[in-house]
Amino acid sequence: MHMITELTRMWLTRSTKPFLFKKEYDQELPFSDCDGLGLYVHIPFCRSICSFCPYCKTLYSEEACSRYIDALIREIHLAGSQIPGKKIVTSLYFGGGTPALAADRIKEIIDAIQEHFIITQGIGIELHPENITPRTLHILKEAGITKLSIGIQSFQEKFQKLLGRTGADMDSLKAALSQVPFETVSMDFIFALPSQTFGDLKADVDAAFEAGANHVALYPFIDFTFTDSVLPSMGKKEKRRLLDQITRYCLETGCTRSSIWTFAREKHASYSSMTRDNFLGFGCSAATLLRDQFKINTFSVEEYIRRIDQKKMPTALTLRFTPRQRMIYYLFWTAYSTRVDPRDFEAFFGVPLKKMYGLELRLARLLGFAEEKDGVYSMTLKGAFYYHYYENFYTLSYIDRMWGLLRKEAFPEQMEL
Ligand SMILES: C[S@@+](CC[C@H](N)C(=O)[O-])C[C@H]1O[C@@H](n2cnc3c(N)ncnc32)[C@H](O)[C@@H]1O
Ligand code: SF4
Repeated sequence: MHMITELTRMWLTRSTKPFLFKKEYDQELPFSDCDGLGLYVHIPFCRSICSFCPYCKTLYSEEACSRYIDALIREIHLAGSQIPGKKIVTSLYFGGGTPALAADRIKEIIDAIQEHFIITQGIGIELHPENITPRTLHILKEAGITKLSIGIQSFQEKFQKLLGRTGADMDSLKAALSQVPFETVSMDFIFALPSQTFGDLKADVDAAFEAGANHVALYPFIDFTFTDSVLPSMGKKEKRRLLDQITRYCLETGCTRSSIWTFAREKHASYSSMTRDNFLGFGCSAATLLRDQFKINTFSVEEYIRRIDQKKMPTALTLRFTPRQRMIYYLFWTAYSTRVDPRDFEAFFGVPLKKMYGLELRLARLLGFAEEKDGVYSMTLKGAFYYHYYENFYTLSYIDRMWGLLRKEAFPEQMEL
C-alpha cells in the first residue's frame, strides 16, 4: 500500500524527493497575499471517545477546555496581528472534537477572528447529535454560525451499536432544527460498515432530509491503525457497488454532488472545510496550507498552551514545498470538489495545467475517470470511486502515519512521507 502512494508521488512530482516535514516553524506566517484563504479552528474535547475516530481529541474537562480556549484566542491574535488591517477570507470552520462543548465561548473566538479577518462565505461548526438542543443552537446562531455539520454516522441502532454511539434521535433533532434554522444543515454518515446495504444507506439519507438536513456527507469507513476499532473493512467490489448506488440515488432524487463525499439538496447548502486553495488553522492539530508551505500544530493540549504562553507558534512540523509538490497538493484537494478548472490552476501557478500534467489529463479521460466540457474537467462515477479508493491508500500512508506520530510526540524531529 505504502509502495503505491510512493510510486504515485514520484511520478506526479517527477522526483524521488519525499515530502519532508521538519520540526521548524515560521513565527511570521506568509498569508497576507494568499487569495481564497479559508480558516479552521480545532477544539479537541469530547464527552466520550469513539473507538473508530482518528481525530485529535481528549476527554472534556471544564478547566482544561477553558485554558485551551484562552490559548486559542491568543494564537488567533498572534497570527492575525501580523497583517495590517483586515484580510478577506472565504469561510471559517470549527471542527473537533466536539466544539459545541465550548458553545458559550464560540462568540468570543469569532470576535477574535473578526478583529483580523473578514469572513465572506459563512461560519460552520461540527456538532455531535447530543448538541442539537434549541438552547445550544440559539447560542451558536447568535454567535454568527451559519452552517452545521452533525455527526450522525447512522440512524440505525445496529450500526450505532457497532460504532459505540448513541444519541441520534430523529424526532428531537427534527424539533430542534425546525425551531432554530440554519443556512446549511449537513449530516455525516459513515458507509461501508460490516454488512451495510444500499437499503440501509438510503434509509439514512432519507431520514437525514426528513429530520431537517439540506446536505449530507457520506464518508467511507477508514480503519486507522492507531484507533481501537475492530470493525473489518468492506471489500472493494461491495464498496464500489454501494457508492455507485447511493450516488445515483442522491442524484436522481434531486441532489447535486457538491464534493466527492457530499450531496446538497438545496443549491445554497455547502459544507466543506477542505476544498480551499489556502487555509490557516488554529488550535491543536490544525493544519495550515499556504503558497509555499504546509504546517501542522502540535496534538498535545498542554504543549500547545505552553507554546502559546511563550508567544511562540504551536507548529509541530513544517513542509516546504517544491513547485510540483505544491501542484499535487492543489490538484488533490481541488479534485475533491469533483472538478478541476485549468484556468484556476493557471491563475494560481502561472503555468498552464496541460503543460504540467497534459499526459495525466489525457490518461484520466481515456480511462474514463474524467470528462472535459468547456475546458473544465469533471469526475465521472468511475473516477469518483477510484478517487475514494486512492484516498484510502493516501489516508493510511500519509495521514495515518503523521497523526500516529503526532499523537505520540508533541514535537517530533522530522517525518518523511
Ligand atoms: C470530527 S468527526 C465528528 C464530529 C462530532 N464530534 C461527532 O462525533 O459527531 C467528523 C466526521 O468524521 C467522520 N469519521 C470519523 N471517523 C471516521 C473513520 N474512521 N472513517 C470514516 N469517517 C470517519 C464521521 O462521519 C464524523 O462525523
Ligand atoms: S467521533 Fe466525534 S465524539 Fe467521537 S471521539 Fe471523534 S470527535 Fe469525539
